[in-house]
Amino acid sequence: MQRLIPTLRRDQVAEGLISVINTLQICAKEISYRLHQGELAGVLGSTLDENIQGETQKKLDVLANQLLKDILLENKFVRAVASEEEEGIVEGFDDGRYLVAFDPLDGSSNIDINSMVGTIFSVLPTPEDGRSGSEMFLQPGREQVMAGYVLYGPSTMLVFTTGKGVRVFTLDTTVGEFLLTDENVEIPADTCEFAINMSNYRHWQPEMRTYIDDLLAGDTGPRCKNFNMRWIAAMVADVHRVLCRGGLFTYPWDKRKPGKPYKLRLMYEGNPMAYLVEQAGGRAHSGEQRILDIQPEHIHQRIGVILGSANEVDTCLSYLQGSH
Ligand code: AHG
Ligand code: MN
Ligand code: MN
Ligand code: MN
Repeated sequence: MQRLIPTLRRDQVAEGLISVINTLQICAKEISYRLHQGELAGVLGSTLDENIQGETQKKLDVLANQLLKDILLENKFVRAVASEEEEGIVEGFDDGRYLVAFDPLDGSSNIDINSMVGTIFSVLPTPEDGRSGSEMFLQPGREQVMAGYVLYGPSTMLVFTTGKGVRVFTLDTTVGEFLLTDENVEIPADTCEFAINMSNYRHWQPEMRTYIDDLLAGDTGPRCKNFNMRWIAAMVADVHRVLCRGGLFTYPWDKRKPGKPYKLRLMYEGNPMAYLVEQAGGRAHSGEQRILDIQPEHIHQRIGVILGSANEVDTCLSYLQGSH
């Protein structure tokens, strides 16, 4: 089986990007090790702090964030990093070619129940127009040069794209290396599976309710087929399932918090997952536009997310546009 770096060389990925992914995989192994030690490593539970998103931070949110930040900022190709857990960006090397945005620990509520979590990353080129500070990160997702995630599940997997398809690597813990286990992920265009947090039903817009009602109606309803539902409560694990066997994943607009109708973050969750899904032949939409075309206004911006099997995303959008 192919190792990570030789695969990247074969794909003619730029040396700087290879260096960044190498740094990320070192972090991934460290986080994976600590997670698998669980309570034995004393890393479970919450801190007393709140992050910029208004969420209580778990010890592992803080630990993973610190690890990623420290090690990425030692890489000479990294100009700056932005994190879900940090209010502002943190600068690295002045002549670094890349910006790295990350969600250090996705699915934090799963940590204490020994369930799936991940790390999501998005790499953008450093703009050459003299912009500075967090403005540098405000580029549409289509500008990403690499994006992916690490899934800490029963096995630890590194899944990423550099724009040449989606590659999957699995951590071989006996040798401590990521080995290529799927060269080219493809999401089937049709599906009978969806993922949404159903407990928010009452908060959705009526068109989204109608779409879900019709999925639930099964083969005697307007969709004429039965749908299955899954919700892992970690986007990284739900998207991984979509990449493996298709499906529709959504965290749609809801009216729980006036003025804050979305949950997922564009830079750390929406863009990297949209890039992967599109590279695997699927679709990723905010409900208003293609996610990768959104011009970000600030680094912690939140958006609606509807992604997965192309035909099902299109069907969902046709409901949202009021054609049902
Ligand atoms: P994070 O743990 O990085 O803050 O992200 C959690 C996100 C996402 O991973 C997941 O799909 C969603 O929140 C789960 O939301 P619910 O708790 O509403 O199910
Ligand atoms: Mn969080
Ligand atoms: Mn997250
Ligand atoms: Mn997180």
